[in-house]
Amino acid sequence: MSDTDVIKGAEATMVQGEYLGRKTLIKTRPAKTYRHADLDQHIRSSRTRNEVRIIHEARIAGVRTPCIYDVDMSEFSITMEYIEGVPVKKVLDESGDPDCTICRMIGENLAILHSNGICHGDLTTSNMILTESGELCFIDFSMGCTKAETEDMGVDLRLLERAFTSAHTDLVKQLESLMDAYYANIPEPDKIRKKVEDIKNRGRYT
Ligand SMILES: Nc1ncnc2c1ncn2[C@@H]1O[C@H](COP(=O)(O)OP(=O)(O)OP(=O)(O)O)[C@@H](O)[C@H]1O
Ligand SMILES: [Mg+2]
Repeated sequence: MSDTDVIKGAEATMVQGEYLGRKTLIKTRPAKTYRHADLDQHIRSSRTRNEVRIIHEARIAGVRTPCIYDVDMSEFSITMEYIEGVPVKKVLDESGDPDCTICRMIGENLAILHSNGICHGDLTTSNMILTESGELCFIDFSMGCTKAETEDMGVDLRLLERAFTSAHTDLVKQLESLMDAYYANIPEPDKIRKKVEDIKNRGRYT
């Protein structure tokens, strides 16, 4: 992303900026005219609040997320640390993670989030950045929740599994390492394994 780039996501717009001499990413949720004005305000407000709250909770739990520098609820914008690195999707596409180091790191960090009652809500490899110093940073928590139930955790895992079976089809061993690392670090692995199976079966019949 260069200084002048604007990234337009499904809901939000990202631009690079500077805050007290630090490089930032400003994520703004512009109005969507196809939505009723009151509903639009509500969605933009709740997603902005949610994102800030969960990024903060995840940091407290010990998972790397961007620092929040400012929140502007009149614009529904968040000024956060710009994470220098490469999206994990790109890393996996290009390197394939032959020794499964990155995938194990994903599993361990996801276990920390879930053990602290945090679910991500949109868990794909595009929402993780591998930093220049080799840390794994999670972004884009607007659909996440705290006080996560087993169902929420199962959905996170199922989304991630689907990302691997659609975008990273040849990384079978890597997905297995990720899941092994996850289940080895979660308090009630069998309960969650069962939930993931239920969600898969539900998907087959809907
Ligand atoms: N803090 C950050 N540092 C560096 N790059 C970032 C940061 N936050 C977002 N990006 C880049 O911008 C892209 C889009 O950001 P993000 O995933 O938060 O938005 P989105 O998917 O459009 O969001 P939403 O689903 O909340 O509407 C990311 O995939 C990443 O490449
Ligand atoms: Mg995203």
